[in-house]
Amino acid sequence: MTTLGTPLSPHATKVMLLGSGELGKEVLIALQRLGVETIAVDRYDNAPGQQVAHHARTITMSDPAQLKALIDAEKPHLVVPEIEAIATPMLEELEAAGVVRVIPTARAARLTMDREGIRVLAAETLGLPTSPYKFCNSLEELQAAIDGENGKGVGYPCIVKPVMSSSGKGQSKIDGPEDVKKAWDYAMAGGRVSHGRIIVEGFIDFDYEITQLTVRSVGADGQIVTSFCDPIGHVQVSGDYVESWQPHPMHPAALEKSRQIAKAVTDSLGGQGLFGVELFVKGEQVWFSEVSPRPHDTGLVTLCTQHQSEFELHARAILGLPVDTSLRNPGASAVIYGGMEAQGIVFDGVDEALRVPGTDLRLFGKPESFAKRRMGVALARAADVETARSNAKLAAGKVKPRKA
Ligand SMILES: Nc1ncnc2c1ncn2[C@@H]1O[C@H](COP(=O)(O)OP(=O)(O)OP(=O)(O)O)[C@@H](O)[C@H]1O
Ligand SMILES: [Mg+2]
Repeated sequence: MTTLGTPLSPHATKVMLLGSGELGKEVLIALQRLGVETIAVDRYDNAPGQQVAHHARTITMSDPAQLKALIDAEKPHLVVPEIEAIATPMLEELEAAGVVRVIPTARAARLTMDREGIRVLAAETLGLPTSPYKFCNSLEELQAAIDGENGKGVGYPCIVKPVMSSSGKGQSKIDGPEDVKKAWDYAMAGGRVSHGRIIVEGFIDFDYEITQLTVRSVGADGQIVTSFCDPIGHVQVSGDYVESWQPHPMHPAALEKSRQIAKAVTDSLGGQGLFGVELFVKGEQVWFSEVSPRPHDTGLVTLCTQHQSEFELHARAILGLPVDTSLRNPGASAVIYGGMEAQGIVFDGVDEALRVPGTDLRLFGKPESFAKRRMGVALARAADVETARSNAKLAAGKVKPRKA
């Protein structure tokens, strides 16, 4: 039986979000609706999620001492990582000591915090199909990994990514020997924590890529049940999502394989919550790419397509509540970038955007804009994905960020 308390009372059910960006903001709203007391943590003040939570805290989440001090002071029942750059070994310690429960588990947060833990788990421990890959610490190692012995290297074309980065930062494609140094230098400049390690992956010439949202929740018998959302198709530009839609049509065999892979990975990570499993598909062939043990940016589309969005699903699953992953209607999302560097920008044309049929909008409320910072998203529901995609892009294009 799940019992929830009253927020701001001695019996409150308290949840702490580590990272309070646009995805965390929607999780926090879903938790608020269930009367959960929320603590939104970020590295800067007035982050999107901090604007909708009971409590806002600003710390360096990669600093174990700061993280421990905050958890000790706030005593949340659940700690929910929303980003990767967190002192996860400290979360493992606190979880092991019974101080707090980490979503989905502290181990899952550690394994997915960089590309290495999860890739080794998926490819080597679980034996799932992935691109050929190698981890390297220097330009020389990178060249050797591509060339291999007797031509058995990763080969060309390939992709270089810092081990610790997201949204395509520091990531580039290598088409031939002349690109190798450039890709190495770019990765060194773009990694979040510059410990100089990269992954080089063989380029997969996929037909399309999907996010398979997968939920581990508690069933009526108290056992964990795995449920799947309809596949989400998306377009990435320089490793960053610009457009997504649901459902993405798939060959039944590819869908079946996708779900087997998603089940294997999420079973192995364990715990409760929603996961975004990224997969590449070519015909009936499916490759595992990576997984977020939390709502996925491409899943913003579920705000207009599912009875319960990925954020509501996550909130419910972590609290031990039942979930419904069914699709309500087809839909699409299109990202709105800041397009400039400025504080406190304004958005013109919001009315025009919302005049596009079946559309909705999220403006995240980020205090500072960068050219390539995601500031909002346009959502569109329609009878079919094609109409939804064109309406989402139309609406996104009508929102014009500018300096105040
Ligand atoms: N081996 C590969 N072959 C072909 N395309 C790839 C490969 N690896 C990555 N990509 C492309 O680059 C995109 C981003 O890669 P990946 O998901 O690994 O990076 P990321 O920085 O973690 O991105 P995000 O945080 O936005 O998910 C993929 O969605 C895919 O479009
Ligand atoms: Mg990705």
